[in-house]
Amino acid sequence: MSSVYLNGEFMPLAEARVPVMDRGFLFGDGVYEVIPVYSRRPFRLTEHLRRLHASLAAIRLEPPHGEAEWGAIVERIVAAADFADQSVYLQVTRGPMAVRNHAIPNVVTPTVFVMTEPLVTPPAELREQGIAAVSAADNRWLRCDIKATSLLANCLLRSRAVDHGCAETVLFRDGFLIEGAASNIFAVKDGVLLAPIKNHLMLPGITYDVVLELAARHGLPVQVRDVLEDEARNADELWMTSSTKEVLPIVMLDDKKVGAGGTAGQPGPVFAQMYGWYQDFKQSVMRGS
Ligand code: PDD
Repeated sequence: MSSVYLNGEFMPLAEARVPVMDRGFLFGDGVYEVIPVYSRRPFRLTEHLRRLHASLAAIRLEPPHGEAEWGAIVERIVAAADFADQSVYLQVTRGPMAVRNHAIPNVVTPTVFVMTEPLVTPPAELREQGIAAVSAADNRWLRCDIKATSLLANCLLRSRAVDHGCAETVLFRDGFLIEGAASNIFAVKDGVLLAPIKNHLMLPGITYDVVLELAARHGLPVQVRDVLEDEARNADELWMTSSTKEVLPIVMLDDKKVGAGGTAGQPGPVFAQMYGWYQDFKQSVMRGS
């Protein structure tokens, strides 16, 4: 059985315990990362740790470890697992408090938890057939750039998709495309990749950055700008991206086929290109080149 890391110790998952007065438990007062690991090589670890530290700074919590220490913990967790492709989950909460009080205590002892689970990337059929999504008004708070553990709104929004037999919920706010309940969303129109601008309303996805880098490297035209809801609904292609799902084509949105003409409702040609670039890039990282 793979071990987990909790506050300086490695132990079996079943032995890991946190106090019920932990602010993460009572208030969802914490931040997290999900880091994909391919063949025991963490993918974009530095970027994930940088985002973790940005989330910590945003919630006014001192980083409990530096990059090298994080790296050593992740390395040990990854090495101990029985499986090679992993999804490392890393969480820092503000730790336990003596009495329940919303205000942040002056002195805190953060709770640091790291575990790993098998990474199950989407099967070929999902990629070949595409996924269906529903839409919803984004009713989350205005700091969605923080990767906070308080995910109630995201959980309810994702469950809306599941209720409709769909894989993701695409969020719109005030007439603009924002992101998915647990992913970033891209649109393609007339061969141009449209990406919502990173701001306080969306999570700055690590996969989002990889996709934009690959587009630039391969000469795919990109516009990073506000994307109107109407543009998303009338796009030729829609994609969702995340560390665990990589890049997936959305072929149905609210029972309407994505795209137009004979290929409507099917993954598009720009997706096929990006998927190939993404897999090649992953392979090159795994080979260490
Ligand atoms: N979620 N937006 C939201 C709201 C997310 O929860 C995620 C990822 C993303 C994509 O970010 P990245 O490419 O860095 O994974 C965007 C993770 C996978 C999760 O909560 O499990």
